[in-house]
Amino acid sequence: MGQGEARWHPVGPVGQITEGRPMRVDIGERAFAVGRVGDRFFAVDNACPHAGWSLGNGSLEGKRLVCSLHGWNFDVFTGECMLSGDKLGTYPVRVENQFLEVFF
Ligand code: FES
Repeated sequence: MGQGEARWHPVGPVGQITEGRPMRVDIGERAFAVGRVGDRFFAVDNACPHAGWSLGNGSLEGKRLVCSLHGWNFDVFTGECMLSGDKLGTYPVRVENQFLEVFF
């Protein structure tokens, strides 16, 4: 497999991903904010498009991920910012043997 080729990457056990509590996950050079909304998991870019704050340190209200620095908030499934029109990168996720994986 060539370097840089998109593939599934392990994130962590789904049991450690708590509803309402997003978390930052670093995989290689990349940083994601991951979390769960009910039975659905998500992975988005960790850097807030406003000023680069870590969205993994934000809060999750339903499917809205709220940046803890200035309150911009994003739909975790579409990446759309409710305030600015900016868009976060969103990534496919899947659960394999109770382990969350992200594709990039
Ligand atoms: S850095 Fe996220 S709202 Fe300002």
